[in-house]
Amino acid sequence: MEKDVKEVLVSETNIKKLVAQLGQRITSDYEGKEIMVICILKGAVMFCADLIREIKVPLKLDFMAVSSYGESTESSGAVQILKDLDSSVEGRHLLIVEDIVDTGLTLRYLISILNARGPASIKTCAFLDKPERRKVDVKIDYSGIEIPDAFVIGYGLDYAEDYRHLPYVAVLSSEVYEK
Ligand code: IMP
Repeated sequence: MEKDVKEVLVSETNIKKLVAQLGQRITSDYEGKEIMVICILKGAVMFCADLIREIKVPLKLDFMAVSSYGESTESSGAVQILKDLDSSVEGRHLLIVEDIVDTGLTLRYLISILNARGPASIKTCAFLDKPERRKVDVKIDYSGIEIPDAFVIGYGLDYAEDYRHLPYVAVLSSEVYEK
């Protein structure tokens, strides 16, 4: 397992600190309101579970799954809903929680389809941000940390469904996908 890790980018200690900071900012910005947190499966599961425990205003949680890269490290650009929300978003304050924003295509798509459903507001939160790879302009209201252009794994992020359980964020060794 560790041989597949090239370098740890965000340690467990650092993750905890960043998530607590995001939770505090969200708590103060949403004072007096109820949030509907939309966790984007599967990658954001760990981040979202940690984040919502740091948010001290009332919230509801729902899940949505969209297509990702399959077994490749490059985005195809086409986004597809694999699982939709269980509840209506009309009149609610939505907070979309993503693991990482890479090209920005997924987040842009999510914002546009959710906007069409009549929410009171939409904000976005992503634990990781790879700004060098951006193809479309998309606003991340709450961003954990910027990382360089490298394929990362761990803390929910996978490569071909592996490595999600690593408690840190690491760069995947290129030998794994060049095999
Ligand atoms: P985007 O649409 O290109 O911004 O990509 C968003 C999705 O691609 C994320 O939610 C991840 O599931 C996946 N992704 C992007 N970069 C990485 C990475 O470095 N490692 C693992 N998954 C990634």
